[in-house]
Amino acid sequence: MKAKANDDFVVPRSVAVIMDGNGRWAKQAGLERIRGHERGIDAVRTTVTECARLGVQALVLYAFSEENWQRPQREIDLLFKLLKRFLTEELSTLMKNGVRLLHSGRRDRLASDVLDLLDRTVAATAGNTGMKLSLAISYGGRQEIVDAARALAAKVASGAMRATDIDEAAIHAHLYQPSLPDPDLLIRTAGERRISNFLLWQVSYAEIHVADVCWPEFGAEHLHAAFRDYGRRTRKFGKVL
Ligand code: FPP
Repeated sequence: MKAKANDDFVVPRSVAVIMDGNGRWAKQAGLERIRGHERGIDAVRTTVTECARLGVQALVLYAFSEENWQRPQREIDLLFKLLKRFLTEELSTLMKNGVRLLHSGRRDRLASDVLDLLDRTVAATAGNTGMKLSLAISYGGRQEIVDAARALAAKVASGAMRATDIDEAAIHAHLYQPSLPDPDLLIRTAGERRISNFLLWQVSYAEIHVADVCWPEFGAEHLHAAFRDYGRRTRKFGKVL
């Protein structure tokens, strides 16, 4: 059950965030786009820490989409450098806050040093029992469904399961991180109203909150505003209440 704190403030069990507007923030500040990504790390740190403190059970951050591979190589290199820095520098904070790190996405295009660091951080935090934090990296919602379909088809072909056994639970069990609950709340920054191939299967009944600020400006007060907005929603899941 969701805990009501004060007024409409409700902490969702599971939150997903499309971190948008790093480039726009940098442009407005007269800086290079990559400076926006650098500042975006501060917002990542704040959001992770505050969600863990408030008792969110699962947080998924859209850090690098399948489509982001089409960005200039220099920007891609910098994003992965920032990711490696984050994983190295934040490990002690993740441990202190009991956060368990996971990865959602395809592994095949990730460089070996990135994979190695991700795997080591996942292993180092595996015993933590607090919030699960999944970084969506080289992630696409359609690709995730394709990968689940392939895994299920292989099981049917080998005789391990029957086609008629494929139901919603079976598809969920073959997503990248089946232990994660579907997001209750999807937050997107920079005023954009799109899903952008993020968690397509999982967001079927997510409440959507759009924050007008760019991601580098997103702070605890914006997270709290999203939780207040969430607290005002009536979730009917298609039923009559
Ligand atoms: C969108 O801004 C943001 C991204 C594509 C990357 C998000 C990455 C970070 C916040 C830093 C690294 C993350 C972690 C978890 C360590 P944009 O560049 O699309 O902005 P724009 O639409 O204004 O150009």
